[in-house]
Amino acid sequence: MAEIRSIGVVGGGQMGSGIAQLAAVNGFEVWLHDADSTALSNAHESISSRIQSIVSKGHLTKEKGAEALKNLRCTSNLEDFRSVDIVIEAIVESEEVKKKLFVRLDNIVKGSAILASNTSSISITRLASATSRPGQQVWSGQLAIAPFVLLELASVERIKLSGILVVIGMHFMNPPPVMKLVEIIRGASTSDDTFNATKFLAERLGKKIICSQDFSGFIVNRILMPMINEAFHALYTGVATKEDIDAGMKFGTNHPMGPLELADHIGLDVCLSIMKVLYAGLGDSKYAPCPLLVQYVDAGRLGRKKGIGVYQYSKM
Ligand code: NAI
Repeated sequence: MAEIRSIGVVGGGQMGSGIAQLAAVNGFEVWLHDADSTALSNAHESISSRIQSIVSKGHLTKEKGAEALKNLRCTSNLEDFRSVDIVIEAIVESEEVKKKLFVRLDNIVKGSAILASNTSSISITRLASATSRPGQQVWSGQLAIAPFVLLELASVERIKLSGILVVIGMHFMNPPPVMKLVEIIRGASTSDDTFNATKFLAERLGKKIICSQDFSGFIVNRILMPMINEAFHALYTGVATKEDIDAGMKFGTNHPMGPLELADHIGLDVCLSIMKVLYAGLGDSKYAPCPLLVQYVDAGRLGRKKGIGVYQYSKM
């Protein structure tokens, strides 16, 4: 019987570092890997300073903060994922790059490990097809085991489940430690058991769950990204200033952030990648990326993470 004790996170950017932090604070052993050593050390630094800040605000005890940091291990060697129980992939939003990673992971992680993707829009079924574990061919001896999940009343609760071979979408919102939602996406071969185990893990991380079928953009980005793209069109065609477009949606529809401000927060490269997936996957010209969004990305104006996107930021 496998047990989720340790979580491997690939990609130490905005999302991966947040997911690693969330898991470490919730008592899981976490391995964090990034192909870029600078990104990896930046991730470690930003997780440490965020945890210190949570402790100094009194939201976490000093001991729990120290424990969380002990739970976190950063590695530049993906082979260290050999014994993890689940991998959550949070690398660049490119089907080709993600598939290559999934092929590598498939050869590294143990047979019972779950492969989850934090993709914003890419088909889970197609990512799964790159692996030898798209479904749930679970064998123990000659029999498929009915999986189950149970909590142990230990200092750290452990999630136990029988060996399920899976690929699934586990889409956190930005920033993962703060945002309440996880969208779970079932690929064509994702079993109920896999779904239940992933849902249980997300709940252990304190999240509200929604479930989506595997269509481009799933639920949240299918609705959110066309709005952001439309805001770019409004700016591009001179309907209004960026400030007024954002103020319109903030004060007129009660959104906490305007769409252009939100695009900077998400990353314009990520927004563009998602629009391309929506356009290709849903086949309607209404999803074509706005030329201004494309131009900003070409110019390296990727949003907050680069200090400039739609807006300029003095400090990232
Ligand atoms: P990011 O650009 O901040 O970080 C991506 C990281 O992945 C970088 O540090 C990069 O060095 C690393 N990386 C790239 N290829 C790699 C590989 N082959 N192996 C190991 N590391 C690799 O991107 P971000 O924003 O964290 O997004 C990551 C994923 O999460 C994407 O799939 C994105 O669509 C999704 N996502 C993004 C959200 C957002 O608001 N930015 C929200 C929800 C999901």
